[in-house]
Amino acid sequence: MSQRVFRLAVLSVLLMGLLGCQKRPPEADQAAQQPPKADYVAPPVPGANRDLAGQRITFYGDAVGLAAALDKVTAKRFEEDTGIQVRVVPRPNSANETYATYMRLFQAKSPDADVLTLDVIWPGAMAPHLLDLSDRFQTEAPEHLPVIRENNTIDGRLVAIPWYVDVPFLYYRKDLLTKYGFRRPPTTWDELERMAATIQEGERQTAPRFTGYVWQGNTYEGLTCNALEWQVSQGGGNFVDPGTGQVRIHDPQAIAAFRRAARWVGGISPRGVTGYQEEDARNIFQGGNAVFMRNWPYAYAAANTPDSPVRGKIGAVPLPRGTLNDRSASTLGGWQLGVSGYTRHPEAAAAFVRYMTSPVVEAWRAEVGSYLPTRTGLYRDMALLKRQPLLQVVAPVLSAAVARPSSVAREAYNEVSTLYFQGVADILLGGDAEKVTAEMQADIERLLRAER
Ligand code: GLC
Repeated sequence: MSQRVFRLAVLSVLLMGLLGCQKRPPEADQAAQQPPKADYVAPPVPGANRDLAGQRITFYGDAVGLAAALDKVTAKRFEEDTGIQVRVVPRPNSANETYATYMRLFQAKSPDADVLTLDVIWPGAMAPHLLDLSDRFQTEAPEHLPVIRENNTIDGRLVAIPWYVDVPFLYYRKDLLTKYGFRRPPTTWDELERMAATIQEGERQTAPRFTGYVWQGNTYEGLTCNALEWQVSQGGGNFVDPGTGQVRIHDPQAIAAFRRAARWVGGISPRGVTGYQEEDARNIFQGGNAVFMRNWPYAYAAANTPDSPVRGKIGAVPLPRGTLNDRSASTLGGWQLGVSGYTRHPEAAAAFVRYMTSPVVEAWRAEVGSYLPTRTGLYRDMALLKRQPLLQVVAPVLSAAVARPSSVAREAYNEVSTLYFQGVADILLGGDAEKVTAEMQADIERLLRAER
């Protein structure tokens, strides 16, 4: 077992232990009884002082789902309590576009971005442009999940503080499963296909645009996440082994998994799925127009807001697997907060990061936005687990976590992932899986050899 896989296994065991005491059904089905708050009120800044009042910082915040609204109220609260002005700029929805935006800011050594939300796959590539926060966060750092903290530590420098963890769920419509006589959500991809086809056919009698399964098929990082899950859950392993660096794409299991997904396009999924990102999938599911959706935790709170047509009708379970002998796979995602190396206000920026990653804010974001905390202590907070049903069903999903190979590929990761998602996109659009995967494998091997 590679070191990284081992650490992920330890993370899972830890969380399973923490959550194991919860005797709950395998679905997050309490939402109907617990109306989420519509008016967001951010918690006060712990131990606030006004030493840096008057300084101005810019925060490249989150954008997807409820995120921009939550960032706005937290920034406002921070301003009120500290006198530090925060300009919030929502990042582009796509991780790739955000990556490009940040790289442009870094190349220009721009002081116009002080605090940045960073995808879990970026610390390796962005470390040279980020401040080392080890000294400033000596007390807080050990309170976060070790696997993410280590991910954010590059050559001994802690370049980002963990903010929230992302793992995918299979969201489903409980009411529709019941209507069509299915007693539980699917555990294999075959089952999902059968259920989706039956329900799609039935619903289309009255709703012609109704669809079975929505996911992220656009040509971008989200497709890498989906495809990695297809590949691993079919017994195909990681596309680059994080321990050995070995590439595995031109592989019978991976090919079978990609062919299966290609069959969905225009079948149980709309043709347009090859253009979908997270929010496209959520809008369709939330509008009541799909029975299944793959998405991150944020979608749970967003789809349960008081005005949501599917509020209270949603269950969440681990993604299906290839056969019962295979395992479910969840791509490990999530976001961190880093301070730009070109900031003119390092102390004000660090104070903002401290507030945003504090126990009160992480707990509040978990409750109102279903963001999974990075602070281990919050998984033992029984009151919080009660207030956020999704936390009660996260253990098996976390235990299936698979990291993308960003630690082994470092600066090359973005390019490796681009070759991977472009190849998978070709297959989804009808390309010959045998031929395309051979090319993907050769291209990624060549790129990684050149990097070494
Ligand atoms: C989510 C994940 C992130 C991933 C992205 C892909 O934001 O947290 O890690 O790269 O989705 O779309």
